[in-house]
Amino acid sequence: MAKDMLGVCVVGTGNISERHVSGWKELPYARLAVACDIDADVAEVYAKKHGFEAACTDYKEALARDDVDLVSVCTPAGLHPDVTVCAAQNGKHVICEKPMALTLAECDRMIEAAQKTGIKFMIAHMERFSKQTAKLRELISSGAIGRPVMVLKGNTGFNNRPVFHDKHGNGGPIVDGCIHAFDSWRVIFESDPVHVMGRGFTFGEFREELKDVKELAPDMVSGMVEYASGDVGTIITCNSMPPAIPPEQQLRVEEYIGPMGKIIGGVRSKLTLIRADGSMEEFPADNFQNWFHEEIRLFAEAVRSDGDVPITGADGKMSVSVALGILQSVETGESVRL
Ligand SMILES: NC(=O)c1ccc[n+]([C@@H]2O[C@H](COP(=O)([O-])OP(=O)(O)OC[C@H]3O[C@@H](n4cnc5c(N)ncnc54)[C@H](O)[C@@H]3O)[C@@H](O)[C@H]2O)c1
Repeated sequence: MAKDMLGVCVVGTGNISERHVSGWKELPYARLAVACDIDADVAEVYAKKHGFEAACTDYKEALARDDVDLVSVCTPAGLHPDVTVCAAQNGKHVICEKPMALTLAECDRMIEAAQKTGIKFMIAHMERFSKQTAKLRELISSGAIGRPVMVLKGNTGFNNRPVFHDKHGNGGPIVDGCIHAFDSWRVIFESDPVHVMGRGFTFGEFREELKDVKELAPDMVSGMVEYASGDVGTIITCNSMPPAIPPEQQLRVEEYIGPMGKIIGGVRSKLTLIRADGSMEEFPADNFQNWFHEEIRLFAEAVRSDGDVPITGADGKMSVSVALGILQSVETGESVRL
């Protein structure tokens, strides 16, 4: 029987948690129980702003509370495993931000804890809920641009927060940002990745503001992912460009190129399909926040109805394996079979 009200805990009340809480507020059967952040002031302000019943700084304390049924895990990635396992041990369901974890062993630890305790466990790869993801899959599977497809995605910029450069924080841009593409491409190609390679550098070594980070992750990386379907994803990412380079002069590209045409744009933008005969069709961009509402709603429904979550721990682990495979290839110079 569906539970009348779900008590929500948010652990890590920073940037992305705002998207989660907006999703939770949409659901009449969700109660904002406790906001937890290691920074007491941040937790207090957040709890007040959103109307949580309590605030605290210790996630173990938050997850042991009787009035909590589930948790949005929105801490830096290095903490996702400990918070998830703690939640599972307390019988609380988990929706965990991407990247699921920074090692495959940690992914396994999370999956095992969820299986052992029978909690619902979902990874918040919200691009799954973009209309553009479904449209790209539909166009490619219907042969609109032929097959195989080579997708090219490139993104450069500057991020001055050490956690985004720290191998043990968010894992660097190939793990933190590109994980979105690794999840979406699996859905778009309806196929699993089989082989990866990468080359890269660590531009952050030259940045004064990152000198205290013990282990910097490569931050200028080019990766290639081959799918069982024969399609290929190529990605270029950098979060360590000189800050004075303005956003409009940064690299921003996403194109799906096939033998019968191409699609300009991607999951987060408008799509322009150009067919072999030169005819064109456009598909408008989707509303970003709706994807978060949908992921939260589907997770909550799975909890209420004891149903399946749409994105499992195994899905999250698969995307982490692509990112780590690329980084391994950067380090060794060898390609990696998954
Ligand atoms: N889905 C997306 O599009 C998207 C976008 C941004 C970030 N993210 C992911 O969300 C996660 C968080 O990123 P963010 O940008 O919100 O970071 P953030 O730094 O803005 O927020 C993280 C919060 O976690 C808190 N925290 C750290 N250690 C804690 C602990 N032990 N207990 C409780 N709180 C703790 C920090 O104080 C901070 O307030 C990362 O995994 C990131 O990759 C996803």
